[in-house]
Amino acid sequence: MNQPDRPRCDETPAWRALQHLWGEGARGFDLRNAFKTDEGRLAAFSQHAPHVFADLSRNLIDARAQALLMQLARECGLQAHRDAMFAGELINNTEERAVKHWLLRTPRGAVSDPDLAEVHDTLDAMLAYASQVRGDTAITDIVNIGIGGSDLGPQMAVAALEAYAVAGKRFHFVSNVDGHEIDGVLKRVRPESTLFLVASKTFTTIETMTNARSAKAWFESQGGRNIARHFAALTTNISAAREFGITTTFGFRDWVGGRYSLWSAIGLPIAIAIGAQGFRSLLQGAHEMDMHFQTAALESNLPVRLGLLDVWYRNFHGFASRSIAPYHSHLKRLPAYLQQLEMESNGKRVDAQGRAMGVETSPVLWGEPGTNGQHAYFQMLHQGTQVTPVEFIAVKQPAHDLGDHHLQLMANAIAQAQALMQGQHDAGGHRDFPGNRPSTFFVLDRLEPASLGAFLALYEHRVFVSGSIWGINSFDQWGVELGKVLARDISARLASGDVAGLDASSAALVRMLSPR
Ligand code: F6P
Repeated sequence: MNQPDRPRCDETPAWRALQHLWGEGARGFDLRNAFKTDEGRLAAFSQHAPHVFADLSRNLIDARAQALLMQLARECGLQAHRDAMFAGELINNTEERAVKHWLLRTPRGAVSDPDLAEVHDTLDAMLAYASQVRGDTAITDIVNIGIGGSDLGPQMAVAALEAYAVAGKRFHFVSNVDGHEIDGVLKRVRPESTLFLVASKTFTTIETMTNARSAKAWFESQGGRNIARHFAALTTNISAAREFGITTTFGFRDWVGGRYSLWSAIGLPIAIAIGAQGFRSLLQGAHEMDMHFQTAALESNLPVRLGLLDVWYRNFHGFASRSIAPYHSHLKRLPAYLQQLEMESNGKRVDAQGRAMGVETSPVLWGEPGTNGQHAYFQMLHQGTQVTPVEFIAVKQPAHDLGDHHLQLMANAIAQAQALMQGQHDAGGHRDFPGNRPSTFFVLDRLEPASLGAFLALYEHRVFVSGSIWGINSFDQWGVELGKVLARDISARLASGDVAGLDASSAALVRMLSPR
């Protein structure tokens, strides 16, 4: 099914039924009563999916709302849209591209897609290279230069899998065009022991190219000669990388979106950190989640349930944001990664046909690891005037064996979810908490390559589901282009001092910040 054929969610019978349910009392749903009156609530609203347990029972949803949301998914053609993605149809209609990041984690021979052999050939070559770098004790520092999807995924995953990382290598991630960032890294590394990875799908992104030029100039100014040994490029634009002077290259295709690219050659820093076996496990975990998404009945399909809950919260409850609370320090970059995944995918004001949306789309995602967030913004989550659903991510087995840290960490995660729901009513005035605040609680047994892969694929598919219900193209990002174009104009003006035709505010800032 092509995107233009999809019905508008807000014109379906299920949407009208949901509106009716909302008006008839769903807006006044009380979690405390729901648990009191329904002994089966936990069982009905929790489930296992590959490598992930999810407790959705503390969300403001009941069986009737869930059933209507499932009906909505059917009326919106969710299954056909999902199957179109997995069939390689051009569902990224504004760029006329297929959406096949899932193919990067599909085992050799498992589907008949014509690109699968190339995927595996590239993967084998990249993993062989990663093994070689891991074994090369003369290389101590890996500097990844990339931004957005060419930075956030690898950076998040390398941190998340720190417990599995090879000894003797330091990983640095340079993304910002702000020279302070690369300057700080270059001061800490030596040319003979550093490998620079220039990661860019397009190999044209201004930040990445500026940083790559500075890295190359620094390398050569320090007497570095062997670019082939000290630079590799991860890109769909191999010819541009060669022109830049990099001959060690690993490619991927335009059907991998930047924010979906950590499974591709962009994942090379992850493969160097955790090794070929570890990287294959990451892919395997994600593949298991792909299979779950494709085959589980909608009612027990975790990405479907989560994506529909997101629609229910955004469009009926009106919740404008969602807070991500990973109770594991190694997941410190997860909120930033999920921000791009969800907000760049679903932050759209028109549907796939270009018509103005009649309903709200992506929420704002934000967060910090627990327990740090508790001592910063949880006050607002408990007693603020806005309700923000919270997503707890807990890991049963810690990667350390220190004292009672983990027990306390887990106790805090559970207690916060409990406090949000329960509230406090008789303490008086400032001490009262309304409670009835929703949360989802995910549990992974261990933070390991396979479970991380599964969790990330779960999130990718969840974003697909809400985007699909909204009828938007989750796979383009035209909204970032205008700023890029204007920045080019302002760069020239800062250099020349020319402010002709600018608005008064921009002109004043150009005058103030011009180095002239
Ligand atoms: O400008 C946004 C964006 O295109 C993201 O979608 C992408 O992840 C990032 O820039 C980096 O792009 P590239 O990998 O082509 O350098």
